[in-house]
Amino acid sequence: MQAVLQANESFIQETWDKIESKVKVTSERIKDSMPYTSRNGQYDDWQDTMDWWTNTFWTGILWQMYGATKQESFKRYAQSMEAKMDEVLYGYDGLHHDVGFMWLLSSVMNYELTGDEKARKRAMLAANVLSARANISGGYIRAWNGEDNAGWAIIDCMMNIPLLFWASEQSKDARFTHIGTMHADKTINDFVRADGSVNHIVIFNEQTGEVVDIPRGQGYVSGSSWARGQSWAIYGFAQAYHWTQKPEYLHTAKRIAHYVLSCLALRGYVPPCDYRQPADSKLLDSSSGAITACGLIEIAKAVPEAEQALYLQSAIQILRALDETCAVWDDSDECILTNGTAAFHSGNFERAEVDNKSLIYGDYYYVEAISKLKQLLQA
Ligand code: GLY
Repeated sequence: MQAVLQANESFIQETWDKIESKVKVTSERIKDSMPYTSRNGQYDDWQDTMDWWTNTFWTGILWQMYGATKQESFKRYAQSMEAKMDEVLYGYDGLHHDVGFMWLLSSVMNYELTGDEKARKRAMLAANVLSARANISGGYIRAWNGEDNAGWAIIDCMMNIPLLFWASEQSKDARFTHIGTMHADKTINDFVRADGSVNHIVIFNEQTGEVVDIPRGQGYVSGSSWARGQSWAIYGFAQAYHWTQKPEYLHTAKRIAHYVLSCLALRGYVPPCDYRQPADSKLLDSSSGAITACGLIEIAKAVPEAEQALYLQSAIQILRALDETCAVWDDSDECILTNGTAAFHSGNFERAEVDNKSLIYGDYYYVEAISKLKQLLQA
C-alpha cells in the first residue's frame, strides 16, 4: 500500500491543495444553500425541493473540509444546512430510502467530528425511518414512495444501509444491522449478475420477494450496466464488509470491481453513463468514477497486502483520469468535475435535463477519495 501511495504522493497532495483552494472560494458564495448542478458556472440551489436526495452532498464537502482544516465557516455552513433539513426529517411525507445519503453526510459527519448530541439524535431518527422501510416478507428495503412502488428496490440503497450499521454501533442494538444485512443479501441474490454487472432496479412481489420485473432504471436498457449503479454497489458492499466483516460482502465488492475495471481499461478510466450503451453515445459519468475510486480504496484497505496494489493503483488511475479530463481547477465554474450524467434517459429527471455536466455528488466523492488517500499517506 505505502509503495503505491508514495509513488503518487505529489498527485495526492497537489490535488488536495487544489480542492482546498477551490472550496474555500466557492463556499463563500454557496454558503449553506443546496447545490445540485452548476449552470453558467454557478451551482444552483434546491432549497425549494428540500427532500431531494442530493441536498446534503455539499454539507458532506463542507465536513470533509472542516475535518482537514478546522476552518470555522465550513462547520457553520454545514450545521446550518443540517438544521434546515429538520423540515424534511420531521415533515415525514417526503422521506425515502435516501435518508442514508442525506443524514450520513450531514448529521453523522457532524456527530463524528464535533460530538453534537442533536446531530446524533437526528441520525438515529433517520436510521429508524430507513429501518421501517424494510419489507420483512420480501427481504428488501423499499425504494421510492408512491402507491405503485411498494415492491421496488434499487442498487443505490447499498449506500444507505451504512446508516443502519452505524445506528447499531451507536445503540448497541443489532436490529438495524439485521435489516441492513437482509437487504445486502437480497441484493447479492437478485441484483448482482454472475459476470459482476448489476441491475439498477428490481421489482419484487411484496409478499414473497420473488422478482417481478427488472426495468432499465437510469441505465440504457434492462440488462445493460448503468455505471453509477455499478459504483454504488462496489462502494456499498465494501462498506457493508467494513461494518459486518461478512466475507461474501467483500467478495461481491471485488467481483463487481473486477468487471468495472475490465470495462474501464478499454476506455481510459473515465466511465460512460452505461458500460453497455451504444458505441456512438458520448455520455460520460465522472461521478461514477469518483464513487468507484472510493470503493476501490475501501477494498484495498480490506484485502491482504499482496492484493492491495491492484485496487489502490486502479483507484488512483481513475482519479488521475478524472483530473485530466473532467476537473475544473480555475474559477470558470464552481464545480470540481464536469462530465457527469444523471441518467441515460435524462428526461426522467426534472431539471436534470442536461447531460455531461456537473453533479454535486461527483464533486463530493472526488473530495472524499482524495481525502482518504491523504489520510492513508499520513497513517
Ligand atoms: N438515484 C441515485 C443516483 O442517481 O445515483
